[in-house]
Amino acid sequence: MDHFLYSDGALYAEDVPISEIAAAVGTPFYVYSTATLLRHFQLFDDALDGMDHLVCYAMKAASNQAILKTLAQAGAGMDVVSGGEYLRARAAGVPGDKIVFSGVGKTADEIHAALSGGIRQFNVESEPEMEVINAIALELGVVAPITVRVNPDVDAKTHAKIATGKSENKFGIPITRASEVYAHAASLPGLEVIGIDVHIGSQLTELEPFELAYTKVAELTEKLRSEGHNIRRLDLGGGLGIPYTRANDAPPLPVEYGALIKKTLGHLGCEIEIEPGRLIAGNAGLMVSKVIYVKSGEGRDFLILDGAMNDLIRPAMYEAHHDIVAVQEPAPGVEQQPYDIVGPVCESGDTFAKERNMPPLSPGDLVAFRSAGAYGAVMSSEYNTRPLIPEVLVHRDQFAVIRERPSFDEIINRDTIPEWL
Ligand code: LLP
Repeated sequence: MDHFLYSDGALYAEDVPISEIAAAVGTPFYVYSTATLLRHFQLFDDALDGMDHLVCYAMKAASNQAILKTLAQAGAGMDVVSGGEYLRARAAGVPGDKIVFSGVGKTADEIHAALSGGIRQFNVESEPEMEVINAIALELGVVAPITVRVNPDVDAKTHAKIATGKSENKFGIPITRASEVYAHAASLPGLEVIGIDVHIGSQLTELEPFELAYTKVAELTEKLRSEGHNIRRLDLGGGLGIPYTRANDAPPLPVEYGALIKKTLGHLGCEIEIEPGRLIAGNAGLMVSKVIYVKSGEGRDFLILDGAMNDLIRPAMYEAHHDIVAVQEPAPGVEQQPYDIVGPVCESGDTFAKERNMPPLSPGDLVAFRSAGAYGAVMSSEYNTRPLIPEVLVHRDQFAVIRERPSFDEIINRDTIPEWL
């Protein structure tokens, strides 16, 4: 459920007409709903009710300060994967002890910054990384809390580019080597081993891969405890999928996911962390764009928008489907027609959808890409010197620009010309 609904023939974000935002900020833009963000966070928080837990929002999905602050005020922790994300979380007011640092290639500088600023834990992905964290902790005279990310060799049954839990993926240490790696970690005086971390992929639409992975984590917890490690926290990653098509897509609900966690791991008495990103932000955001031209091609009509692959890369990169709806609600019974929906960038890959049935549209009409809140704005670029598009946050009947569209001067002046030119 989200808060982007039609009312009196027009699409709204909560109580604000999308057309009003378009008139104020211009197109294209991203718009997020506070109520949807909070609702999705709450679903996870409620699903783990009865267990000691922390929902650490994977801020890579959408990392605007205003979004982070909205979630942090509701009690969310953050999962960060870079020094930049760590600083963003801190700038949004998230205390260090609610920030988990994940990622396969943390640099010494990033580790140093997080250890000096305060961190809940590092999710360590390799032995060389463990050595670096240990050395920096000793240098700073602190002890670094860590979990080790294990790779359970489970097929997440998702798009190959976002599956992370198979042995061929670069993530974590093979679960089969866990005893050895944990013994090594325990021997390092700058580290305190507190738990286990696992994340098997993103946009999972079945519970079975989670069940396989979490069952392995439960077995590993008991094994490591028997080997003398005080395993008391389990970070279970993110990955629960969202419905991208309204019609027929029904991935498991957070409550079902929570029940699975209780069933597979509840008996261990560990504190549970989860790192959902997409499910919190995905359906809490739209990308709104305007039709520039309608062009008749050979056997097809093209809808040419002012939004492009640089603004929303997911269709080009993952063949991802986004529902696209007209901002003015089509009259009942209006006949739909197929369009190829494209952006202005000079690549055939700049195609959002082929033969997509839409009501008849004309230049100037607005369309909204649904489910664009996660991995939308954060993955955008200025390819073709197209400015990063603004982000807007709605709260009931108010809206605010939470990231401005840069001017062309700002973009161009970021370059510097060497003195020999
Ligand atoms: N934790 C870790 C360690 C992760 O690598 C990820 C996502 C998450 C949590 C959050 O997963 P989520 O709940 O959002 O599925 N750009 C791609 C998705 C990449 C996901 C990468 N890791 C897309 O647009 O589909």
